[in-house]
Amino acid sequence: MRLFMVGGKGGVGKTTVSSALALLLSRRGKVLLISTDLAHSLGDFFGKEGETFKAEGVQVRQPDAPSILKKKVRGWERDFFKNISPTLQEDFSPFFRYAEKDPSNYDLVMLEEVKKAVLKEEWDFLVVDSGPTGQFLRFFFLSKKLVDWYKLLLKWRKKYLALRHMVKGGNREDDFLIFLKNKEQEQESFQRKLQSCFLVWVSEPTELSLKQAQTALRTIGKMDLLVVNKIKGPFHLPKPLRKIHRVEIPHYSREPRYGSNSFSEIKERILDPYLRKLYFLREKS
Ligand SMILES: Nc1ncnc2c1ncn2[C@@H]1O[C@H](COP(=O)(O)OP(=O)(O)OP(=O)(O)O)[C@@H](O)[C@H]1O
Ligand SMILES: [Mg+2]
Repeated sequence: MRLFMVGGKGGVGKTTVSSALALLLSRRGKVLLISTDLAHSLGDFFGKEGETFKAEGVQVRQPDAPSILKKKVRGWERDFFKNISPTLQEDFSPFFRYAEKDPSNYDLVMLEEVKKAVLKEEWDFLVVDSGPTGQFLRFFFLSKKLVDWYKLLLKWRKKYLALRHMVKGGNREDDFLIFLKNKEQEQESFQRKLQSCFLVWVSEPTELSLKQAQTALRTIGKMDLLVVNKIKGPFHLPKPLRKIHRVEIPHYSREPRYGSNSFSEIKERILDPYLRKLYFLREKS
């Protein structure tokens, strides 16, 4: 499975580019195109409705983060309250209500959705149509943070079980420790996939948009492809970005919607020749 992450500033063309990439990759294997943007637009782009749908050979998913979060939190609440007295339940209940409505938890939901798809190994290619730069960066660092967090919880649990063993004897392992070990392994294996993803950054040829591309490159430490989109004329590329592979897309007078000539051009004449050169796709072309 090869993970393609598509990032960029708001409105630069991430959805357009990730859709084109997904359609091209579907000629080489099974593709899931998943949106982690809270304001999904893949449905609008393809003219389809629903949380999941098919566009040619591509399976598309736009997870409904608020409703997934609500379901998750209700589940945690049920588990938590199994071992808690009714008076304490009353005190704790409001925190679960906050958690299920807190938009900062949506990133976590999206991360879990992508992780699930990555670990399931059902797809040859996974293309992530991301939210704007800030969300993209949070996504990357949240995953790293979770690995560290599970490691710490594991360390504490091991310490506790060792102490319990010293005092009362008994097992040094319990279900919770095994649960944490599995979670940590899962998160670490996802983190490795994320680190080795194929990172596509879309930018307009404007100073502000290219500056964000530089910030992303500096923060993430890599960038595999820079797509300069909506080009109207000559532009200045900052030095650090010049060493990144680049494709250039002109600004079309009509928006490149699915099925339009301009979208076909982006796909077939601009992105396909680039993909054909990628070493890991060559044997699949
Ligand atoms: N090369 C182009 N020429 C003209 N219009 C374009 C071009 N590429 C994309 N657009 C238009 O720009 C708008 C934004 O494109 P798109 O939705 O792909 O960007 P995005 O980065 O995904 O946006 P968002 O941050 O809102 O998710 C759309 O209306 C799209 O049709
Ligand atoms: Mg978009």
